[in-house]
This record gives sequence, C-alpha cells and structure tokens, in this order.
Amino acid sequence: MIIDCNSSLIIHHSSFIIMRIDIISVLPELMESPFQTSILKRAMEKGLAEVHFHNVRDWSTNKHRKVDDEPYGGGAGMIMTVEPLDNCISDLKSQRDYDEIIYLTPEGETLNQRIANTLSIKKNLIFLCGHYKGVDQRVRDLHITNEISIGDYVLTGGELAACVLADSVIRLLPGVLNDEQSALTDSFQDNLLSPPIYTRPETYKGLSVPKILLSGNTSAIEDWLHDEAVRVTKERRPDLLE
Ligand code: ADE
Repeated sequence: MIIDCNSSLIIHHSSFIIMRIDIISVLPELMESPFQTSILKRAMEKGLAEVHFHNVRDWSTNKHRKVDDEPYGGGAGMIMTVEPLDNCISDLKSQRDYDEIIYLTPEGETLNQRIANTLSIKKNLIFLCGHYKGVDQRVRDLHITNEISIGDYVLTGGELAACVLADSVIRLLPGVLNDEQSALTDSFQDNLLSPPIYTRPETYKGLSVPKILLSGNTSAIEDWLHDEAVRVTKERRPDLLE
C-alpha cells in the first residue's frame, strides 16, 4: 500500500510525459471547476495532463442507476456496491495499463509532498472517490493499489480529496509551472516550510521589508532565507526537522 519513494522532488528529464488521470465518482460535476481554471487548465491545454471523469452510474445495471446498498451486518449509511465499480475499473484497465489505482479515503496514508512527488512520475492513474459510507471491501481487494487520505477529518466524499491530490501532482509535471524552479522551492520539498516573502512597497503601515532582501547580496540572501525557513519550521512544525 505504501508508496515506496524516499526521495524529495523528482526531477523530470523529459517534457513529453503526458499524465492521464481517470477519476471515478458518483458526482463528477463536483470536480469540474478546479480543472477549468488557472494552472491546471493551462496544463490540460498544453497537453501535459489529461483528466477524464467517469460517473459510476454509467456502469450500473440497475434501471434506476443505483450504485449503493445497505451494509451487511447492519449499521448506518449506505455502501457503494462492488459490481458497477468493478465493471468501471475493469473497463478502464482493459484500455491501458495503470500505474496506480488510488482510493481516496480517510483510512488511507496521509498525503504529503513525498507521495505527490512519487506520483508525478507515473503515467496513468485512477482515482476512485468514495461516497456514502465508502466502497464494498471487495473493490479494494480486487483493484486498489494505494489508499490516500488528505487529512484526519471526514469529507462528504472523496471528490474534493481527488482534486487536491490531482492538483498536488499535476503542478509538478514539467512545463506546468512557468518557472520550473518554483516547485523546487516549495514548502516541504526540503522538509522546510517557506520563509517570509515580500514584494513592493518597501514599507507599508510602518512595516518594512528586511534590509537583507534589498541588499543585492545573493548569497547572504540565500543564507537568510534558509535560516528563516528553519526558524519558521522549528516554530510551527518541529516534527518536520526530526
Ligand atoms: N473521503 C472522505 N474524507 C476523506 C479524506 N479526509 N481524505 C480522502 N478521502 C476522503
């Protein structure tokens, strides 16, 4: 289950990698706007990434397109049934090889930069969004290679989590960010949070930009930024330095 990659940012050597993400959900319309706006939209337009949405109901054999049922053993909430999900995933698998089939669930490994980096060198990914109480265990047994959570809280479904995961991965693809270096200096890429950042004006309501940033001394600036990153990380996330 655990994605085994310890490296930090993975440097891509080719700008011709096209990532394909297939997202399976009962509510694909919930996920449209993040991919139709700004950086992700541009990534699609440039052909660097493709995202395809699939409504599980299209694989339901039920005349009401039902895809959920009550849990065996009782209890509250509905469960997504195995057959439509199995058929949907099997259909996709018959068309291409998938590197990972990821189920978004609070029970998964918590998403972090290492996982995003690792997924960014894959080619074909499926994200399965759970809804209601989740999916029948047999979907996981048959198809799922990784389970990812975006944090210790429960969402109404996996859709927003799928958008978060897709965003964290697609922005790392070569050519997606204007200045490729900017992914290198992200928070977390060295297990450090970002230092404070400033832009014009030099002084605002009595608050001035630290003099060092105006000095033009690039190596002193680099040292200062690094020291500040360590300070902020120590203050806020000492666990990252352990
Ligand atoms: N589905 C519901 N809650 C979730 C979470 N925290 N992470 C991923 N998928 C989820």
